[in-house]
Amino acid sequence: MQHSEQITIGERLLAYIDDHATAQADEVYHQAVDEYTSATTAALERSVLFRARPQCVGLSGLLPGPGSYATHDIGAQPLLLTRTQSGEFRAFLNVCRHRGARVAEGCGRQRSFVCPYHAWAYGLDGRLLARPEEAAFAAVPRTTHGLTPLPCAERDGLLWVHPDPDATLDADAWLAGLGDELAGYGLAGFQHYASRVLERRMNWKLLLDTFLESYHFCVLHKDSICGIFYDNLSTFDSWGPHFRLVSARRSITELRAVDRASWNLLPHMVAIYVLFPNTVLVWQLDHIELWQIHPGATPDESRVELSLYAPEPALSESAKRHWDKNIELVVHVVEAEDFPVGEGIQHGFHSAAQSHIVFGTNEPALSFFHRTLSHALAR
Ligand code: FES
Ligand SMILES: [Fe+2]
Repeated sequence: MQHSEQITIGERLLAYIDDHATAQADEVYHQAVDEYTSATTAALERSVLFRARPQCVGLSGLLPGPGSYATHDIGAQPLLLTRTQSGEFRAFLNVCRHRGARVAEGCGRQRSFVCPYHAWAYGLDGRLLARPEEAAFAAVPRTTHGLTPLPCAERDGLLWVHPDPDATLDADAWLAGLGDELAGYGLAGFQHYASRVLERRMNWKLLLDTFLESYHFCVLHKDSICGIFYDNLSTFDSWGPHFRLVSARRSITELRAVDRASWNLLPHMVAIYVLFPNTVLVWQLDHIELWQIHPGATPDESRVELSLYAPEPALSESAKRHWDKNIELVVHVVEAEDFPVGEGIQHGFHSAAQSHIVFGTNEPALSFFHRTLSHALAR
C-alpha cells in the first residue's frame, strides 16, 4: 500500500472509530442458499471460474531461485511451476506426455523431472530431454512432446497462471489497477516459510466468506482477536472483480499523535485482498498470509492451502519459532472458531430452513463478492 493510500485509509478508519461506523453497501443483499449446495453451480464454477480465468498461484518466493519448482492443482488442472536456470517463471500441466503420469510432486529444487513411471525426463523449461528406448518412439519426436505449457506471468512478486493452455494471460489487465497498490508491499522480497493444507466440510465460498467482514470479530472471536481489532469496522474498495478490506488494530489510535506525513499505517491494520475468485492475500503486521481456497469433490467440501511468507529468510531458531507461532495461531483461530461455524452453516443449508441468507449493509464485501460471482457465471 502506497504512503498516500495509507493516509487516506488511516483517516477513514479513525473517522469510523469516532463515528462508530464502517463501510456500507447501498442495500441489503439476499444470497441464495442453493448456490452453496448445488452440483450444477459447482460444475459451472469449475469451468468458468477455475478454468477460464487467471489464477494467483503464489508469491515469487514460492520459487526462490533457479531450479526451484512447486506443484499446485487448480480445480481439475494439475500444475507444475518452475523457475528456469535463467530465473524465468514457467508453468506446465503436470502430466507426462508418454502416458499421463504426474511427473513431479511437492516442491524443491531439481535440474530435471524424471517421470516415475517409465523415466521420461523433462527440463525446467518443459522440454523432453531424454527417454529410455528412444528408438521405440522414433515416430514421435521429442521436440513435440515436451510438457504442455500454460500461459503464466510474474508481476510485482505475484505468480499468475492461466489454467487453459489455449488462453492468453494479460496479468496487468486482469489486475485492473490493483497491481500498483500491491507493488507497494515489495512482495517480490518475501520468502516462503511454510504452507498448511486444511480440508473442511463446507463450500469454498462459505470458507471465503469468513474473511469478508469484521462484524463477527467480538462475537465469535471474543477471546482471541477481539482484543486486538476493532469489530464491525472496515474500509471496502474494489478494482475490477478484486477487492480489499482494511480493519484497524486497536493500536491505530497512536497515529492521532503523529504528523500525517510520518504515518506508517501498516503496523496498525490488517489488509485483506481478494484476488478474484479464490485467493485471499492478507497483510498481517509483518508478513503475508496467502489463502488459496479451492472447491472439493462435492459442493459441501473445500480444500484450503495457507502459506506464510516472511520478509526475510528464517535462518535462526528464534525466527523459526516466531513464524511457527504465527502460523499455528492463525490455524488455531480458523480451525477452532471460524471453520466449525462454517461447517454448521453448510449442514443447515440442507435443512430447508430458508431459501436465502442475508448480508447487511455493514457487510459490503460479501455483497460485492457474490454479485461479482453471479455476474461471472452470467445467470
Ligand atoms: S507415463 Fe511418464 S514415462 Fe511413461
Ligand atoms: Fe473470523
